[in-house]
Amino acid sequence: MDYRNALNYEGKVVVITGAGGSIGSAMVKGFAECGATIVAIGLYSEEVEKVVSDLGDLKRDSMPLVLDVTDVDAVNKQVDYIFEKYGRIDILMNHAGMNIRKPVIEFTETEWDKINSVNLKGIFFMAQAVGKKMIQQGFGSIVNTASVSAARGHCNLAPYAATKGGIVQLTKVMAHEWAPYGIRVNAIGPGYVRTNQTANLLNDPVKYNELLSKIPMGRFGEVEEMVGPALFLCSDLASYITGHALYIEGGRMID
Ligand SMILES: NC(=O)c1ccc[n+]([C@@H]2O[C@H](COP(=O)([O-])OP(=O)(O)OC[C@H]3O[C@@H](n4cnc5c(N)ncnc54)[C@H](O)[C@@H]3O)[C@@H](O)[C@H]2O)c1
Repeated sequence: MDYRNALNYEGKVVVITGAGGSIGSAMVKGFAECGATIVAIGLYSEEVEKVVSDLGDLKRDSMPLVLDVTDVDAVNKQVDYIFEKYGRIDILMNHAGMNIRKPVIEFTETEWDKINSVNLKGIFFMAQAVGKKMIQQGFGSIVNTASVSAARGHCNLAPYAATKGGIVQLTKVMAHEWAPYGIRVNAIGPGYVRTNQTANLLNDPVKYNELLSKIPMGRFGEVEEMVGPALFLCSDLASYITGHALYIEGGRMID
């Protein structure tokens, strides 16, 4: 094991969904700084174009790609295109997600379907499309983004928690089925991080203090702190780790 160079991603093609978002754009920067070529996938062209152009000298052969991960035909077509263009896909950071917060009794069917569509269907079919290519090439690493909500019953998050719990479970099954092909599949579970998704919540001083009081480390996470664990899980440092969920939460889940 070459420990010193284990985070050198030169020559590797890393596909990142949700790349225009808060944590996703930090992922793009982190993998690019380690030498990777990035396919930055998002819903909005301005967002993904900016995230790639912001790479400057780190851009290499990276490209932005507009793709709605809930559109399975489009997912399959675009993954074919990426594989044809680069000849390989080393890593999938399966990271796109969304949330709506409200009590159980207030959720509508449309809201339930929307959250499930992005967080579960999108994650599943994106991994399936990339997994087929990884089986073909005989290597690869996938990291699905879950949440501490996968393992806790925090109020106002029922559909989100269900999808994130589902992600942890489908991660295990994919890891099991694809281990013989040299593919590792893991999940990360961020705790509370200041992002677009949590801005409204953390701007409310009562909620802010309530949530903060439950984090042993006494602070919210920074987007950059989500990147190191992802780099680790995708690297040879984690070559014997598959099917796990790594929670990144300042100790939020200790009790
Ligand atoms: N912020 C947190 O505290 C926190 C905690 C736990 C988990 N997470 C997870 O981290 C991930 C990133 O969240 P974030 O906080 O950076 O939020 P964010 O809203 O900044 O990023 C989410 C990204 O996903 C994209 N996206 C949404 N629907 C899509 C679709 N159908 N197709 C393609 N892209 C789509 C959005 O455009 C956005 O760029 C999500 O999966 C989220 O659930 C965040």
